[in-house]
Amino acid sequence: MDIRLIPTANPKEKPKDENNLSFGKVFTDYMFMVEYTEGIGWHDARIQPYGPLSIDPASPVLHYSQEIFEGLKAYRRADGGLQMFRPLENAKRMNDSADRMCMPPLDPEFQVEAMCRLVKLEQDWVPHQPGTSLYLRPTMIADGAELGVHPAHHFLYFIICSPSGSYYKNGMAPVKIHIEDRYVRAVKGGTGAAKTGGNYSASLKAAFEAEKQGYDQVLWLDGRENKYVEEVGAMNMVFVLDGKLVTAPTGGSILPGITRKSVLQLAQDMGIAVEERPIAVEELFQAHQDGRLTEAFGTGTAAVISPVGLLEYHGRTMELAEGKIGPIAQKLYDTLVGIQRGDLPDPYGWVLPLT
Ligand code: PLP
Ligand code: COI
Repeated sequence: MDIRLIPTANPKEKPKDENNLSFGKVFTDYMFMVEYTEGIGWHDARIQPYGPLSIDPASPVLHYSQEIFEGLKAYRRADGGLQMFRPLENAKRMNDSADRMCMPPLDPEFQVEAMCRLVKLEQDWVPHQPGTSLYLRPTMIADGAELGVHPAHHFLYFIICSPSGSYYKNGMAPVKIHIEDRYVRAVKGGTGAAKTGGNYSASLKAAFEAEKQGYDQVLWLDGRENKYVEEVGAMNMVFVLDGKLVTAPTGGSILPGITRKSVLQLAQDMGIAVEERPIAVEELFQAHQDGRLTEAFGTGTAAVISPVGLLEYHGRTMELAEGKIGPIAQKLYDTLVGIQRGDLPDPYGWVLPLT
């Protein structure tokens, strides 16, 4: 499919101070767009000026949340060139989410081509400072006009770009996390493994209440027994227990994170043992008391590797790595970010150079 370009008449001013970029607040000049019509398939791919969408108020996305999205980044190397990190993985996961939400798949290679074309066009928007990148948000929504609860017949897939800094306002400072036991994020057979908007809107109340108590994020427990730790709002969780990396299995209720997968691979190659298994909250408290739980961190595209300084559950707290980033998290962060930004060689073929 050809991708045509509709030029903008009004290029925007780029952020002047790259050191003060926050996450997802500024958007570039262009967006990619392609449409799906039942009986025809995907058509009319174009890169058009960034701007509001005009959709029917009866669009299924507005009523029944038939929506999915992805998140990935384009990085500027020290030599000024650009590269992306594992974009094909995001494109494939987009299709897995599409399948769960009764939405049409889009050829993963074509999704990556669209990302590359857009980033190359917007290359001057990719920031230079360490810790910054151009965040890409591929999204698919069901539009059209029909209020019956059944899969839609028309869809829009678009990609918007945002020059971004760190996801958390305090950058790499360790986050404080509340372990949630009243609300649940996902249940067996639900949509937990799909990257669909409803998972995030359903998580807002718990996150908002935790924030009021001074926590940065919520750690969700399994929806069946309220006993095993699952993931955080925008990242997977990894614990350093007895010197091993331990993380919840991707059994359908958590997002199979691309950063998670990459970090587990890096750890194994560093000679650190990795266990993917259910982890009970009580096991964490016991291990912390025994001095065997030494670090915890989140992994995610937006959050990168985000150290956890404190975990709280029912008023009981665990302080970790003296409120600093632990040595294993630091080593994994340096290696991962080194590969992502092109400062370290990439023996895995994870990086896709664009220029
Ligand atoms: N879990 C949730 C709920 C997320 O939103 C994200 C972010 O995408 C992640 C985990 C981490 O996934 P990834 O490493 O692919 O960005
Ligand atoms: C990402 O890390 O790309 C995410 O999608 C997290 C997001 C919900 C902010």
